[in-house]
Amino acid sequence: MAFELFSTMNRVYIKTYGCQMNERDSEQVASSLRDRGYSIVDTEYDADVVLLNTCSVRDQAEQKAIGKAGYLKKHKKDNPNFLIGVMGCMAQNRGAELFDRLPDLDLVVGTQKFHRVPDHLDNMIQSMNGQGPRPSSVLDLGEEAGSQNTIRDHIGKKGQVQAFVSIMQGCNMNCAFCIVPKTRGRERARPIQEIVDEVIGLAESGVKEITLLGQIVTSYGRRDFPVVNGKSPFVQLLEKIEEIPGIERIRFTSPHPRGFKQDLVEAYRDLSKLCEYVHLPLQAGCNKTLRAMNRPYTKERYREIVDSLRAMVPSMYFSTDIIVGFPGETEADFNETAAMFDDIAFDMAYIFKYSIRTGTPAETMPDQIPQEEKERRNQVLLDLLHKHSLARNEGLVGTTEQVLVEGPAKKGDKYVGHTRGWRNAIFDANERLVGQLVDLKIDRATASTVYGDLVLAGVEA
Ligand code: 5AD
Repeated sequence: MAFELFSTMNRVYIKTYGCQMNERDSEQVASSLRDRGYSIVDTEYDADVVLLNTCSVRDQAEQKAIGKAGYLKKHKKDNPNFLIGVMGCMAQNRGAELFDRLPDLDLVVGTQKFHRVPDHLDNMIQSMNGQGPRPSSVLDLGEEAGSQNTIRDHIGKKGQVQAFVSIMQGCNMNCAFCIVPKTRGRERARPIQEIVDEVIGLAESGVKEITLLGQIVTSYGRRDFPVVNGKSPFVQLLEKIEEIPGIERIRFTSPHPRGFKQDLVEAYRDLSKLCEYVHLPLQAGCNKTLRAMNRPYTKERYREIVDSLRAMVPSMYFSTDIIVGFPGETEADFNETAAMFDDIAFDMAYIFKYSIRTGTPAETMPDQIPQEEKERRNQVLLDLLHKHSLARNEGLVGTTEQVLVEGPAKKGDKYVGHTRGWRNAIFDANERLVGQLVDLKIDRATASTVYGDLVLAGVEA
């Protein structure tokens, strides 16, 4: 009887909000549910269970997920056994309060308990046992030693050529604006060998490009593993991954300027698979604002890292995160940030309007900036970004860049890939080229995309 019910209650839809870490955590949950006999479906309309994997970094992200969770209760009318779960950062941040806000919620699972989701669902579904009462809701938010080692399985999508690999969890910094130390906990690293084994498995299944993930990857293992020959554990990890046959490209996100030392700069020279693209959050280009944010570096030090990377690899691409409208940021402070942003000429950037996060130091800071002024500053930086990304891409017209062919484009009959510098590329290709590194002769560019023809001489097409 329980089995019969189970067999009709096993379709799970997972919706993910926020960053790549969240994407990766969702993939782990999907993989563990599939191993337990659940099927993972593509829409809430085909599902018996919907899990929202949430983000807390800005208020808007939380509101979106809360809105969605509220809306999902309509499915309970047609299917009284329909289950709704909230996992991840907002679960951790808001906890039991979510049940008050969302009375139809069944499950709240924090960032160190993703691996418990199959057990929770099994228990709830079994306790429903046909006509029985709804199971009581489940709240699972504790810290768990070793939980960082549970994010390691992949869904193994056919033809998958890129994969994320989680190398650590948590962040020990205290940026005044940021909720992540609360939602993700203290830094915990996975052992190098486990990560290497995971990447070897991915390479064997055809993956060519690996992105190493962590909230602060430059801190990877710094308390657990020794520095060897002047190299940090993170650089040691990169060197090990460089040696894995089949892996052609390595990326990572996100490093912190404080941990970005010469060994990592030199890794860009020495490791041929490490792509010449870095996402290095600046947050502000004004020392007064950086201090108020409790970011432990100066704009001069940040500039030094950029310059040393450019000296090592002249074609280096730079991406960053900036927050506009941090409390106390004056017009002059912002102009300083904008000038630095313009001067570095970022190829890519994520620009955020400061969002008050309850319980962070910046919550109670005086001189909060009005929304319209945040909007204005946001637009100033977006315009600068457009100028620089367009100029960089236009500079590629007439040149040839290596692309990894990733698969069919969303629209039309073209294919997509990325250059090593993470330029989005669109071109004609075919299924047999997916997973191959091919030269692209670029003949047209926009700020977001380059277009051209693959150079197929000598390529098995
Ligand atoms: N408001 C706006 N942006 C924020 N970020 C983190 N916290 C906040 C906040 N309270 C941004 C930072 C970070 C990125 C992931 O999100 O720029 O690097």
